[in-house]
Amino acid sequence: MPKPTLKGPRITLRQPKLSDAALCVRWFNDPKVTIYLGRQQKLAMKDEIEYLKKMIRDKDNYNYSVINENGKHIGMAGFHLKRKDKRATYGITIGEKKEWGKGYGQEITEIIIDFVFRKLKVNRLDLKVFEPNKRAVHIYEKMGFKIEGHRRAISYNLVTKRFDDDYIMSILREDWLKRKGRRILTKKRV
Ligand SMILES: CC(C)(COP(=O)(O)OP(=O)(O)OC[C@H]1O[C@@H](n2cnc3c(N)ncnc32)[C@H](O)[C@@H]1OP(=O)(O)O)[C@@H](O)C(=O)NCCC(=O)NCCS
Repeated sequence: MPKPTLKGPRITLRQPKLSDAALCVRWFNDPKVTIYLGRQQKLAMKDEIEYLKKMIRDKDNYNYSVINENGKHIGMAGFHLKRKDKRATYGITIGEKKEWGKGYGQEITEIIIDFVFRKLKVNRLDLKVFEPNKRAVHIYEKMGFKIEGHRRAISYNLVTKRFDDDYIMSILREDWLKRKGRRILTKKRV
């Protein structure tokens, strides 16, 4: 079943196409992009095409191609839904390095948060992030995620040749409702 297209002020999240594979292969073979990703092994085109086919078929996998306001495909983002637990697990990669630091990461995360709580009625959205990925940790905290677990030396980083810690972070439905309420109150006061 096709997943709904999601839109923010600048960003559109659309279902991936198999023709997106070439860009994904470039991004996921770039050590500057993968330095803090779980996926660091060399990626072949045929494997990426198989991966995308599987993602598109999987009804619980909402993996999106990220398109900016100029119609440029700049990355991938999405989540895996665990229906029984009313829980979703988030991931994001802006593969185009020139597009980092423009606020897209925050907008994409906000679109996904809004969709999973408002439309899919989940109770919890969670993620894993490596501790040295300060930019990512910053945006997740800003969007309302809380650190609930810190695992020491959990993963060997093939790029930095060091063992990295990671954080498990989550935002619960009740956190989202509180944030939403705060934003509405702030708007009213202005
Ligand atoms: C991590 C990623 C998603 C962030 O997206 P982005 O579009 O670059 O981020 P934004 O522009 O929305 O926001 C960046 C924020 O981080 C802050 N920041 C940048 N470098 C930072 C640092 N070293 N420490 C703390 N905060 C930092 C910026 O000031 C900005 O916050 P602000 O708006 O409050 O000032 C993106 O860089 C990316 O895809 N990186 C490669 C893959 C990856 O690491 N994915 C995450 C896996 S968990």
